[in-house]
Parts: sequence; structure tokens; C-alpha cells
Amino acid sequence: MGDNTSLAYQQIHIGDKFLWKGQDRGRDYEQIFADQDLRGKYVLDIGSNLGYFSLRSAYEGAAQVVGIDISEVLVRKAREFAKNLDMCNVHFFSADIIKDFPCGVRGMKFDYVLCLNVLHHLRDISCVKRVLRVLQSFISGSGEMWFSVVIPKDKRLWSKKSIPKKRLAIAPKFFKHYWPNFYCSVMPSLSRKSRRLIQIQVT
Ligand SMILES: C[S@@+](CC[C@H](N)C(=O)[O-])C[C@H]1O[C@@H](n2cnc3c(N)ncnc32)[C@H](O)[C@@H]1O
Repeated sequence: MGDNTSLAYQQIHIGDKFLWKGQDRGRDYEQIFADQDLRGKYVLDIGSNLGYFSLRSAYEGAAQVVGIDISEVLVRKAREFAKNLDMCNVHFFSADIIKDFPCGVRGMKFDYVLCLNVLHHLRDISCVKRVLRVLQSFISGSGEMWFSVVIPKDKRLWSKKSIPKKRLAIAPKFFKHYWPNFYCSVMPSLSRKSRRLIQIQVT
């Protein structure tokens, strides 16, 4: 996917600052963090795009936020927004999560790991499994992971054919199979009918 700026799709409207016109991701944010007190929490935002989820978490009180995206252009833009918002506890890194994670992030633990609308961009299910293994290592003892996935219409565990553009569709039950000992909750995304939000809780 590289540096395709057409992927700069998030609207960045944080507090009273309107910094970028795009898709409002607020409904997914509110579904995930409804009633959560983010003060003092650590948040990892995988596939951070223009940084909406990272910046909003910091705005809501998170202590440390890390956003990672494969696109350097998006990361540069997200850093600009963080600077504009005077946020020095939000750090954006460019990395391909299939290959590696930035060394500044390795060994860190997070209360929330978000991986929203990213997995279907990966090449195949072995990449997905590799990424899930690493994401699990970032989770703190009582932390949670959130995924937003495109669901396959045919309800198979995964399929490359069931949706346009040959994206990798992942059925929610894949996560239950992958993490049989974790609590897994599946809910329709309020922002897009074809998406499901998956919440994985370690405890
Ligand atoms: C559809 S956007 C989702 C953005 C955001 N998470 C959201 O839900 O609003 C997918 C993002 O994942 C990033 N991405 C795709 N493949 C990636 C990879 N291998 N490593 C890191 N980021 C990746 C893209 O650059 C893009 O910003």
C-alpha cells in the first residue's frame, strides 16, 4: 500500500480544532470507549491513518498513545496534527506491522490495542496470525484489544473472494478460535454495515 495518500480518509476534528476534512470516525471511537475513563491509560493504535483514534484518546486523557502506520506520509501528517494540538504524549511511527514494530514500542504494555480496519489489508491469513501474536504481547494484564473487520458474506472463517478488491475477510468466529481462553465480544459497527467490531479481553 506504501504511501498512498488517498488513504488519508479520517476527519480530524478534536475539541474545537477542525484540522482535516474526511470520514467522521467518532461513532466507532464512542462505541469502543463508551463509559471508559482513559485517564492514565496507554493506547496503541495500529493502522493509525491520520491519527484520529490516537489524538482523540489523548484528548480524552490517555497518558501515552502510540500510533503506527505503514505510510510515512500519513505519519508525518498525524505528527503535524499532534503538534498543532500541543500533544506531546502521542507518538506516531511508520512501520509495516507484518515485518516489524518500531524499537521504541517493543516491550511496552498497553491498556488498549486498536487494530481497526487493518487486517483485511494484509496479504493472507498467516500474516494476520503473525500480527495477532505480536499484538497480544503488547496487552497489559487487564487490557483489551479491539478489531474492526470486514465480514465474509459466506460465513466461512476467511475468504479472499467474498468481497470486492480481494480484501481478506475475517469472520468474527476466527477470533474466538484464535483466542479460546479470552473473552470475545462481537458487535456491528455503527458506522459501517459491512464491519464488525471485535473486543478481546485478556481477563
Ligand atoms: C482503512 S485504514 C484504517 C484506519 C483507522 N484504523 C480507522 O479505522 O479509521 C487502514 C490503515 O492501515 C494502514 N496499514 C495497512 N497495512 C499496514 C501495515 N502492514 N502496517 C502498518 N499499517 C498498515 C494503512 O496505511 C491505513 O492507514
